[in-house]
Amino acid sequence: QSAGNLKAFRGSLVDIAKVVDQPQDIDQQVRSVEDGLLIVKDGKIEFAGEYQQGKLLLADDVLVHDYRGKLIVPGFIDAHIHYPQLEMIGAHGEQLLEWLNTYTFPTERKYGDKEYATAMAKLFLDQLFRNGTTTALVFCSVHPESVDALFEQAENFNMRVIAGKVMMDRNAPDYLLDTPESSYSDSKALIEKWHKKGRALYAITPRFAPTSTPEQLELAGRLREEYPDTYLHTHLSENLNEIAWVKELFPEQNGYLDVYDHYKLVGERSVFAHGVHLEDHEFCCMGDKGAAIAFCPTSNLYLGSGLFKLHKTWQYNVRVGMGTDIGAGTSFNMLQTLNEAYKVCQLQGKKLSAFESFYHATLGGARSLYLEDKLGNFDQGKEADFVVMDPAATSLQQLRWENSKSLAEKLFVLMTIGDDRNIYRTYVDGKLAFQK
Ligand code: GUN
Ligand code: ZN
Repeated sequence: QSAGNLKAFRGSLVDIAKVVDQPQDIDQQVRSVEDGLLIVKDGKIEFAGEYQQGKLLLADDVLVHDYRGKLIVPGFIDAHIHYPQLEMIGAHGEQLLEWLNTYTFPTERKYGDKEYATAMAKLFLDQLFRNGTTTALVFCSVHPESVDALFEQAENFNMRVIAGKVMMDRNAPDYLLDTPESSYSDSKALIEKWHKKGRALYAITPRFAPTSTPEQLELAGRLREEYPDTYLHTHLSENLNEIAWVKELFPEQNGYLDVYDHYKLVGERSVFAHGVHLEDHEFCCMGDKGAAIAFCPTSNLYLGSGLFKLHKTWQYNVRVGMGTDIGAGTSFNMLQTLNEAYKVCQLQGKKLSAFESFYHATLGGARSLYLEDKLGNFDQGKEADFVVMDPAATSLQQLRWENSKSLAEKLFVLMTIGDDRNIYRTYVDGKLAFQK
């Protein structure tokens, strides 16, 4: 092997081998190598396994980054986040519809300014990487400039990012509205410019049913027909007042999901944030059509939206990823997001395990985005996005790590009391993107 394009990392490796149908099957798919070696070649995983075995593949002059005592895991996947909202995280006192009007819309107005959007996009990527998140499905603002700004910054890292221009032509302040035609042609131009450029992918992004006219949803459906391998990214059944409003606005349709379905927006690579109040027939429809839900626990609790029924996604075979939903969500950090997910399940008498949590944040999240052949674990040939975690960043964490008896217990405690302090290094496309 020539040393030039090879990189090697020694540490404890943990990942999930395969996609599963039921949560109880995850345990058998956990791969853990105490003294492991990860070899990366040209941004792809070349080897992941025992150090003693892997080192035989390396020429003497290859530098091995020594992360013994640390955990090396696949990069976290954030299946729903708004980059223009990072600056309004923690806005007080409102539920969804009032929160949008009071805080969100005035904030997003600023992203028509390319320079401003660029500065915020830089900050946004820095926040992702310092939290170990290497792939995200991102809402930009209604302004095409905001989309260019994000993709341009992500391009510097060759990051696997999915994003799109918000489409919204009613029920918001005039300064934030597009039209059916402009949203169509602007989205089309952005797709032509960014979709599949490097690792970038485009998501057609109607904000949610209440802020789009039927004409606009129709054109979103047309874009999807014209570009069938793009994504569809929107919000669904988050809040009870929102759902009642959708019923008023679309009286012909049989519920919230059916509005999107009517406009041919429900299918593979459709990702719906929240789904807190979905009915069984809606879960069933999403499972049948291959659509995905982004479960956003910190947001659902913060806005008082409700408790997501994670168990239903298994029952109906619905793809699910974890979303932070910044800025309604309260943390960029996936450990903290999983901590809150556990509590959402607790409140429903369900036990979310550490391995299931880890699955949703990595391989399951990749599957929600139809990227499980490229991301989510350390299979040979997958893209080399990974995180080096320090499981003992504080003395309390160290004590608790050392007195935990199993990997399941160790990981669970890390998710419960861990956060960005535990993110030691983040690698994107095989290259260092963040170090503590
Ligand atoms: N529904 C429509 N827009 C938004 C948004 O920006 N955040 C959340 N959480 N829900 C929405
Ligand atoms: Zn959202």
